[in-house]
Amino acid sequence: MNKIKTAVFISGEGSNFKSIYRNSLKEDYPFEIVVVISDRKCDGYEFSKSIINKTYMFENYKKCHFEKEVHNILKKNAIELICLAGFMKILGKEFVKKWEKKILNIHPSILPLFPGLNTHTRVIRQGMKIHGSTVHVVDKGIDTGTIIAQSAIAIDNLDDEKSIEEKIKKSEHYLYSKAIRNYILNFYFKKNKNSLKNKKNKYSKILYSI
Ligand code: GRF
Repeated sequence: MNKIKTAVFISGEGSNFKSIYRNSLKEDYPFEIVVVISDRKCDGYEFSKSIINKTYMFENYKKCHFEKEVHNILKKNAIELICLAGFMKILGKEFVKKWEKKILNIHPSILPLFPGLNTHTRVIRQGMKIHGSTVHVVDKGIDTGTIIAQSAIAIDNLDDEKSIEEKIKKSEHYLYSKAIRNYILNFYFKKNKNSLKNKKNKYSKILYSI
């Protein structure tokens, strides 16, 4: 299968990146991670350096310089898809336009509820009993692009931000790779559709829609 050359942007622990990376090595996931971009020194960056040659860190860069250099790196490596995985910078409109429909993001809430930062805190404050994550296409708004996939978790009385984050990330590790695969095969690139036939979603403990 021809794999789509993909870049992952990170800023933190990089647990989503790790799960995307692991899945990208499997035959039926139609993407390979060629470039990793970090905007800071973080655990994800350290991990990436050990497995992806083209791992770059842009610490303390002005937005316009960062985006220009990153764009050149992506072009030089024939990147076709960008996956934001806990990337904390907001990308500029010009950059988003250049990569229209080619940037995906995972956001820790069931959008359009709770766009923006600190979603777990706000979800607890609002007394929500259900929370989740969304994979969406990045457009010029904040967490407003077309929704590709969502997962949901239950919140119980004993949960706090830490336990919610753990549950959310666990669900994201399942969701994101599958959502990327679906996006590549069904929505955007429409390649290699047959290889997905007969693959059933066996995961039932968390509610998913992908
Ligand atoms: C995830 O919860 C993701 O939804 C949000 O940031 C977190 C990143 O975690 N955008 P990690 O760096 O992938 O562990």
